[in-house]
Amino acid sequence: MIKESWKTLGYIDEPVPTDIDLPAAIRQLCKEKNAIILAHYYTDKSLQDIADFIGDSLALARKAAATTADIIVMVGVHFMGETNKILCPDKKVLIPDMNASCSLAESCPADKLAAFKKEHPGYKVISYVNTTAAVKALTDVVVTSANACEIVESFPKDEKLIFGPDRNLGAYINAQTGRNMLLWDGACLVHERFSVEKLLDLKKQYPEAKVLAHPECKNIILQLADVIGSTAALLRYTIHSTDPTFIIATESGIIHEMQKNSPDKTFIPVPPETTESIGCHCNECAYMRMNSMEKLYNCLKYEWPEIHVSDDVIQQAIRPIDAMLDISKKLGL
Ligand code: 13P
Ligand code: SF4
Repeated sequence: MIKESWKTLGYIDEPVPTDIDLPAAIRQLCKEKNAIILAHYYTDKSLQDIADFIGDSLALARKAAATTADIIVMVGVHFMGETNKILCPDKKVLIPDMNASCSLAESCPADKLAAFKKEHPGYKVISYVNTTAAVKALTDVVVTSANACEIVESFPKDEKLIFGPDRNLGAYINAQTGRNMLLWDGACLVHERFSVEKLLDLKKQYPEAKVLAHPECKNIILQLADVIGSTAALLRYTIHSTDPTFIIATESGIIHEMQKNSPDKTFIPVPPETTESIGCHCNECAYMRMNSMEKLYNCLKYEWPEIHVSDDVIQQAIRPIDAMLDISKKLGL
């Protein structure tokens, strides 16, 4: 029975028995229920370690599309759970905390995008995967940071395009592709706040280090970067590079997987401008960090909170996601 108090909270706050081996109990629940745990690189280390699969947004969507599990637990943020539900409407998709939102998804309400589309007839809409299902339903093609430039390039040069909601990623794609897409004015609260001064200080302190940045960062940070890419691309770079030291301008959760793959290399996170205003003490996504082992355990045990997307929205939103997956496959991405 789902308690009213949980519904108000958006997660289950039942205390987990202290005498159990929590990771083992989570794995046991997965086995009993034929459930799979998908986790994003920005979640806590313990969650990355217990997941069946960790990845960037593109890899997580692909994994969800291919799974034979009956239950998908998305240890990430709400839009990722929605993407899984759109791809797998017959499966139960769970998320440990319904409050795990995303500043980018929040910046682009579907009604505002619909109005913007009306003001710009003849434009195609390209949406970053960090959007709600309702926004995807208004979209022509979804992209992730791993395929955005290539997918934009796949449109004819004279195609009129709207890109949302990340203005930084949009500006980066415009610069890379020579396009002039109309940009939505959204930003990621983590990537927007990396401190230029602190990055310059780190570069002075570690002159041999390579700077790796996610394209959600401001242009001024990207200009200081040696490598720009999605979380998976940055991770790959650190694995194959012979450089010993990396300064990382993306959510610091990715460093766990980088360090695991390259135990002898050094990874230094770029600090944010301030720490108080985003409610966390470092360069962590407060939404991603709403996930915890206890919430994951309870979510599997009670099979709640569950992601629901209406059939109408699923029918519309699957088109641009399938388009992304098809184009990416054709381009070998
Ligand atoms: P990728 O996983 O696609 O690199 O995106 C990062 C992100 O901000 C996810 O919320
Ligand atoms: Fe959204 Fe930024 Fe958090 Fe990613 S890191 S989920 S873009 S707020």
